[in-house]
Amino acid sequence: MENVMYFDQAASSWPKPPAVMTAMMACMEEYAANPGRGSHQMAVKASRALFETRKNLARLFGVKNPNDISFALNTTHALNQAIKGFVKPGDHVICTNIEHNSVRRPLEHLKATSQVELTYIHNDEYGDISLDELKRAFKSNTALVVVNHSSNLLGTIMPVGEIGELCRTHGAKLLVDAAQSAGILPIHVGSMNIDMLAFPGHKGLLGPQGTGGLYIHPDIDLDPLLHGGTGSQSEAIQQPTVRPDRYEAGTQNTVGIAGLNEGVKFVLAETVEKIHEKEWRQTQLLMEGLLGIQGVTVLGPQLGQNKTGIVSFNIDDADSSEVAFILDQSFQIAVRSGYHCSPLAHEAAGTLARGAVRASIGYFTTDHEVDVLIQAVKEIHSQYAK
Ligand code: ALA
Repeated sequence: MENVMYFDQAASSWPKPPAVMTAMMACMEEYAANPGRGSHQMAVKASRALFETRKNLARLFGVKNPNDISFALNTTHALNQAIKGFVKPGDHVICTNIEHNSVRRPLEHLKATSQVELTYIHNDEYGDISLDELKRAFKSNTALVVVNHSSNLLGTIMPVGEIGELCRTHGAKLLVDAAQSAGILPIHVGSMNIDMLAFPGHKGLLGPQGTGGLYIHPDIDLDPLLHGGTGSQSEAIQQPTVRPDRYEAGTQNTVGIAGLNEGVKFVLAETVEKIHEKEWRQTQLLMEGLLGIQGVTVLGPQLGQNKTGIVSFNIDDADSSEVAFILDQSFQIAVRSGYHCSPLAHEAAGTLARGAVRASIGYFTTDHEVDVLIQAVKEIHSQYAK
């Protein structure tokens, strides 16, 4: 939309690199046939689009075999596949106290229905955990640890590499929710000891909605979440064991994945290091400006500390939905308010009673937009304080 200053990148990134739209149009116009279901030229071209995207994702995440990445509709879908496909009755699972509902709900569902034990690790108000507490939480039946790489409310970055090492020592697997970090923070599944990585296509990877994926370590076999046609081993009555078919029943989102490929190529060309550096610098500008307004509080890591491009804040005791509404209607600034599907993170931050306004920065956010947001909050604050 023209004139909108978009600070809701953590929910879905916008705008996208033009090549994303061009690739999607080209796919629709030229080769939107069914990938993996035919041997004619259009189907082969569609299959190739999926494989190219898998290859580029593998490059980005340090995955040796692209077929260890299967496509999903979104991070929630990938997390459900990982959690429900891996955890068995009698298993113990550990997660942090700032997980998104896309982790918490499937885990709580298994706890309620499948004799699964669940331990939440405590996060302080900045979102940090104690690795000692994590160490103490492991039990003989701990099968899985699930952590978000970066909190969607606080922007805190979890020490994934160290958590992965602890998992290895204790014989548990590590599932990382990369909803807020894929395409934004460096991720290397091998050196970070990540066994499963769930990621969205439509956030930091700059692709369209309806795309995402799951990396599964070659030694892990999951029960597929979906059973059905794969275009392979059609005579077999069971789901094929071959990857990625095992986890990709039904026709894939070829058009969306063709767009995702361009988003991933953009990220690879720019580099995640440069993207993170740019976004971090702007979070500091925004935080500095907001903290300069009396009565404004900012959640999560303090100024100068590492974090992703998420700045959640409150203006005195103003209702966060009201502030977001005014930002939208009077200033054309898009933010998200309320609980962000993360009541646990709000509990850790002490904002469970009121929620927060969340401004999230992306690679295309400008310094001018950051400035306009700060001025808008100043104006709302002065109106509110009267
Ligand atoms: N999980 C996304 C967010 O934080 C949708 O807004």
